[in-house]
Amino acid sequence: SQFPVILPAAGIGKRMQSDIPKQYLVILGKTIIEHTITSLLSHPNVSYVVIVLSSNDTIFQTLPLASNPRVKTTLGGKERADSVLAGLQYLSAQEKWVLVHDAARPCLKHDDLSNLLALTKSGETGGILASPVRDTMKRGDSNGTIAHTESRDNLWHALTPQLFPLQQLKSALIEAQQKHVPITDEASAIEFVNQNVLLVEGSASNIKVTKPEDLMLAEFYLSQQANQAHF
Ligand code: CTP
Ligand code: MG
Repeated sequence: SQFPVILPAAGIGKRMQSDIPKQYLVILGKTIIEHTITSLLSHPNVSYVVIVLSSNDTIFQTLPLASNPRVKTTLGGKERADSVLAGLQYLSAQEKWVLVHDAARPCLKHDDLSNLLALTKSGETGGILASPVRDTMKRGDSNGTIAHTESRDNLWHALTPQLFPLQQLKSALIEAQQKHVPITDEASAIEFVNQNVLLVEGSASNIKVTKPEDLMLAEFYLSQQANQAHF
């Protein structure tokens, strides 16, 4: 079966400190968002992608992918959660499941997405790609000194895609929004309404391009994936 993907791409990329939103920076001859969309559309279980754009966006419509029939667009909002909700509202209520993936994560591997989608065969519970933290984790205090060391046991980085039943995610996001709970990923909305979210271990190379130094890392991972595709 096939699943729709919501791709929030309405951010400005403040931490990247670039003149244009980071999803339009070019790596290996293509914008980051084109790498992301191409990788999603080439997965056999993706039906189409809904790109959520800023109302100020003048770049997306200039990309060749903008005229692909499996690429749809809608307008986002102030916070990432507002943009995701706008994307969900664009979908037909007939869709049972929905994937949400950051436009700024171009290095997603097909195998990781397949492992996440396997959840849909076993039940109704959604899940996210995640990777176990590697470094020792310190809790700081307001003076910038260490308050204590957090246990690394069961501590994960939350990645995307995140996969949930459409209606469950929509109502969780609306409830969190009404109660002014800050939501940084889809799972945090589901946690807020006390529903279970499964952790599916994915590759740490599925980075979110956030700061300037991430560009070289993403370029390295993308060139590695391109090489592997030839064997
Ligand atoms: N995003 C969005 N709508 C917003 C904010 C963010 O659709 N109001 C999208 C971004 O375009 C990005 C994804 O959510 O693809 C992850 O967000 P993040 O990495 O934080 O991107 P930005 O918000 O653009 O970056 P920054 O926080 O540094 O400004
Ligand atoms: Mg942001």
